[in-house]
Amino acid sequence: MNPVRLTAMVVVAGAIGIALGCQRKTGAFDQQDIDRHHAFVGAGPGFLLGVATSAYQVEGGNQNDWTDWERGSYPDGQPHVAGGASASRAADSWNLWRQDVAAIEDLGANVYRFGIEWSRLEPTEGAWDAAAVARYREMLLALRAARRHPIAPMLNLYHFTLPRWLAVRGGWEWGGAPEAFAAFAARAADAFGDLVDLWCTLNEPNVYVTKGYMAGQWPPGIRDPGRGARVLARLLRAHGLAAAAIRAHDRVDADGDGKATRVGLAHNVRVFDPAGGPVDGVIARIADDFYNRAIPDAVATGHIHIALPTAVTIDESAPELRGTFDWLGINYYTRDVLRSRLAGALLHGGAPYEPVDDPTRPHTDMGWEIYPEGLYRLLLTFAPYGWPIIVTESGVADRTGIVRPSFIRSHAYAIDRARAEGVPVIGYLHWSLMDNFEWSHGYEGRFGLYTIDFAGDPALTRRPTPAVATFQALATGLGLLPP
Ligand code: NOJ
Repeated sequence: MNPVRLTAMVVVAGAIGIALGCQRKTGAFDQQDIDRHHAFVGAGPGFLLGVATSAYQVEGGNQNDWTDWERGSYPDGQPHVAGGASASRAADSWNLWRQDVAAIEDLGANVYRFGIEWSRLEPTEGAWDAAAVARYREMLLALRAARRHPIAPMLNLYHFTLPRWLAVRGGWEWGGAPEAFAAFAARAADAFGDLVDLWCTLNEPNVYVTKGYMAGQWPPGIRDPGRGARVLARLLRAHGLAAAAIRAHDRVDADGDGKATRVGLAHNVRVFDPAGGPVDGVIARIADDFYNRAIPDAVATGHIHIALPTAVTIDESAPELRGTFDWLGINYYTRDVLRSRLAGALLHGGAPYEPVDDPTRPHTDMGWEIYPEGLYRLLLTFAPYGWPIIVTESGVADRTGIVRPSFIRSHAYAIDRARAEGVPVIGYLHWSLMDNFEWSHGYEGRFGLYTIDFAGDPALTRRPTPAVATFQALATGLGLLPP
């Protein structure tokens, strides 16, 4: 293989998050410390304890670019979504949302991060669906009027799905997409701002470009790192415009804390650990820069720098991004440990890296290593940016429901360890409230505190898993539930 091409592959592999890493390492947590720990005690009444979902994954009844994608298959006949599953009904939250609110009340949560579906609210360009607005307002009012205490909505504007009218123009590659998104954000702020202060513009832009433009596993199914990097830059611009639109259009302080808006985005972060060796270190740095740092760096500096050496380097001034975070959202799930195999790739072809999976470590149903220490390490890594941090997602694919309680306890412990060292973590949101549509995994990844029998129960009853009690203990520690 051409060495330049090989180098490019190495670099791109690192950049898309499957290479090695260079964050500070820490020792393993002591299980006895976790067992003895009372999480979030003393975190204060303002601490955000909640759960998260996204519109497409739970609502059902949506029509957008993902709907089209999940009907398709790869050239070898494999469906785009495992088992050919569809989100056509999903958890049916569009109709069963009162059960969702009741479940959140039972948990003792004081925040619910959920999505509003762009394609539902703006089904054709410029049109605005009044009935959809009314339904979301009903949900928001119910959250604010919840049984024990108000549940603050954190409204998420973009979570991987696009209206068809925008997708056919090229999705985020269409030059007008950031402005269209900002117009949507402005209308959403007009429609819901009196009930919402917490706004999340984008969910995981790095995951979106990695899956949709590099791995080709999500719509639009592209495998072109250069295009992916350019879309990431476009998404950053969209965030900047949307943040300004939200601040301009939502002037109502819904919860009386003196602020009408608190804007951020949910950023997926991963630990990249090297299996060892100097080449690994180089790739690790690139992976970390691209995947973990490019987004917060752009907002901190007002300069977009996205580098995938030999594929693309983007250097653009974006002063409008500065000041657009009132908080940084962290979605943390796992780490990657990989070993480079340059010689093997040269001689036999294939990828210039291989995953180094330690089978003695615990893994989720989806094969992700359970590594709570990584959350602690990454919180320390992101603290110097200076933004308050909300863990906007943390969760585990666990069909049995047996693993989730200890998963929650170990990750809450990780957060408290970071807080004890001065990291300003102001919230923890568990992914997810209930089992839902896990993108290309269909219904194979079960993340819910409440489980749903999608195949056997037409009522889609939300049945509590053992982790409900674990979550309630956190709420009790914060004074959100009675002892
Ligand atoms: C993060 C994403 O935001 C969410 O959509 C997904 O279901 C979870 N990760 C679990 O993979």
